[in-house]
Amino acid sequence: MGFYFEKGRLFCDGVKVEEIVAKTGTPIFLYSFDELKARVNDLKQYIDPTILAYAVKSNGTLAILNYIKELGSTFDVGSLGEFKLLQRIGADPMRSVFSGLGKTPECLDAIISNNIGFISIDDPGELRKIDQVASKLSKKIKVLFRINPDIDAKTHKYITTGLYQTKFGMDETGFSRSLQMVKESSCLQFSGIHIHIGSQVGGIEPFSKVVDYVLKLSREVKFEYVDLGGGFPIPYDSKPLGVDIKSIGEEYRKLKNSGMKIIIEPGRYIVGNAGILITSVILNKKIGKKNFLVCNTGMNSLIRPPLYDAKHTVLKLNLSSAIDQIPWNVDNIGNIKYDVVGPICENTDFFARDINLDEVKEGEPLAIFSAGGYGCVLSSNYNGYPKLAQYGVMNSRLIQLTKAEDCNEIVRNDLLI
Ligand SMILES: Cc1ncc(COP(=O)(O)O)c(C=O)c1O
Repeated sequence: MGFYFEKGRLFCDGVKVEEIVAKTGTPIFLYSFDELKARVNDLKQYIDPTILAYAVKSNGTLAILNYIKELGSTFDVGSLGEFKLLQRIGADPMRSVFSGLGKTPECLDAIISNNIGFISIDDPGELRKIDQVASKLSKKIKVLFRINPDIDAKTHKYITTGLYQTKFGMDETGFSRSLQMVKESSCLQFSGIHIHIGSQVGGIEPFSKVVDYVLKLSREVKFEYVDLGGGFPIPYDSKPLGVDIKSIGEEYRKLKNSGMKIIIEPGRYIVGNAGILITSVILNKKIGKKNFLVCNTGMNSLIRPPLYDAKHTVLKLNLSSAIDQIPWNVDNIGNIKYDVVGPICENTDFFARDINLDEVKEGEPLAIFSAGGYGCVLSSNYNGYPKLAQYGVMNSRLIQLTKAEDCNEIVRNDLLI
């Protein structure tokens, strides 16, 4: 079911969001567990990978990880902290991937001694260190080589990771050196390659180029696995995406047909549209001709608009037109132009600019959609604001996933000297 409007009222998995807000207050993050399940099922149906490894970086809330684990997914983690989350939920490390860029000795010790399934190697310089740790711990480690194929993902430059001007992966020289190093080691097992060219990939062409690249490489070097990363785009507004999961699956089938085992690491596709941020307007102000709705949380809770120029659909929970629609397809409801902003002392503190809404009164809640991925996980205490509580609807029941921080907790690690 997910999030949808029924006769102009917002629902989450069959529960009216106004009723949820009456119980919880705002600001909160709210998640639809049905949406999580539907998106995982899409990936199983259209891509059917050998390993589905949810990218923990997109949302590491324990209840969400646990649910995704129960749906049969494993995980892609990028730091010791994320690895600890897997241990907390009892996930099987042997089917998970570690793909962090800067791997500290402490982190390598922990993931290798706890039998991580695959380590993605970003540079030949890392291999020597991993070899040493594996040999000290008498372990054999499956390694994937992360390749930078110099392919443009056609997305925002801050989430582009497959071009040579970005810091990720190795070029052909690094790849050959790494292969040589593996041959000389008794602890490293070359299992395959890893390519993640970016997030919210813009169109089918970048996916096709990656597939062609991998097919060409496989004619020169034999490997069992190809980890194709994440990057599957989701709607944030009514603009067409230019690619759907089915067409990506058809591209990836070419790799399967030539005998490769596929790993994928989607994050945004699973959680992005499964979460919303609900905030209330605390001040309705006008400067010149401009109307501002000042909300009770801001960029400390959702930094995507200023950080990535991201557009998020923002709507009232109760629309004047009695539409039945999914929220990110709803355009131009209302005839007052607003900037929806936060309370933080920065001009970058906004959720949406120049959007049309019905009149919004002080105290009214607003929903900011597609905030499930890279939303709460990127939140901070900037300007002295506490992190928000997170709730979810599971089997039509409202459950609390995390507690809100208290203002006093913000200084808990600060030493007064
Ligand atoms: C290595 C790697 N894999 C997977 C992902 C998940 O990407 P997405 O959320 O676009 O699916 C990321 C995100 O940046 C990543 O860096």
